[in-house]
Amino acid sequence: MELKRKLQEAIEYVQKEAIPETALGMILGTGFGKIVQELKIEKKIAYDKIPHFPKPTVMSHEGYLLYGMLFNVPILVFQGRLHKYEGYSYFEITLLVRLFKALGGSTLLLSNAAGAVNLTFKKGDLMVIKDHINLQRGSPLAEKGIAEMGARFVDMRLPYDTEICKLLLAQAKKQKIVIREGVYAAVVGPQLETAAEYRYLKIIGADAVGMSTVPEVIVARQLQLRILAVAVITDICDPNDLAPIDIPDILASVEKGEKQWLKLLKRIVAHLQ
Ligand code: HPA
Repeated sequence: MELKRKLQEAIEYVQKEAIPETALGMILGTGFGKIVQELKIEKKIAYDKIPHFPKPTVMSHEGYLLYGMLFNVPILVFQGRLHKYEGYSYFEITLLVRLFKALGGSTLLLSNAAGAVNLTFKKGDLMVIKDHINLQRGSPLAEKGIAEMGARFVDMRLPYDTEICKLLLAQAKKQKIVIREGVYAAVVGPQLETAAEYRYLKIIGADAVGMSTVPEVIVARQLQLRILAVAVITDICDPNDLAPIDIPDILASVEKGEKQWLKLLKRIVAHLQ
């Protein structure tokens, strides 16, 4: 089936559920769950009910589209993102971004867990993504039928909205919350990096590395959405002193970072509609 038809069927299903047009949206990364507790949920749709929607296979990614009020602001929350390493196509992992646009979306907030290549960062730190390096082997725009959904040669000079970023940084300063700024490198994973790869990431200018976000950002730019993306630092990737991966420790760091993210969100959401 043509991709456009698939998208249309997904949109039609969600529209039947009578979700109001919503300008603000958010895709939750690994371990981000506290935000959902703050949300006054009005509609909840399981991803597996939406035609052509993939189902997350990763622990701590739930798979629900939620509509509700976050600090009195209407928002669509995609609870559970999809990753390339789960074996889905780029079209499938970015379908939620296209669906968001069709539901009236204009500003998309993204969160993820990432490893620090910049060794001045600490676990649990928030890093606002200023720019990225796509080290995944493909593009979500390089599929048949995608050029009909927006521009083909998408401008990536300023993928992350500078105004929203300023707002976030000013709020962090006000609340004395440490916030880093940096470049996010996206790899496919799911294996973590070797020491040589972490050295390479540092040399090419990355501050943090993770397995998500960039495909969604590319599609969001094709659709001319405004983007704010934050990474929570979950591990420090010192190539000379690598620690084994520790999932409970990663989730504890996300929880710490997410608390700060929520404090900031509370103050800025009203300005993002
Ligand atoms: N590498 C890739 N993805 C990650 C990491 C990492 O070190 N930490 C959290 N997500």
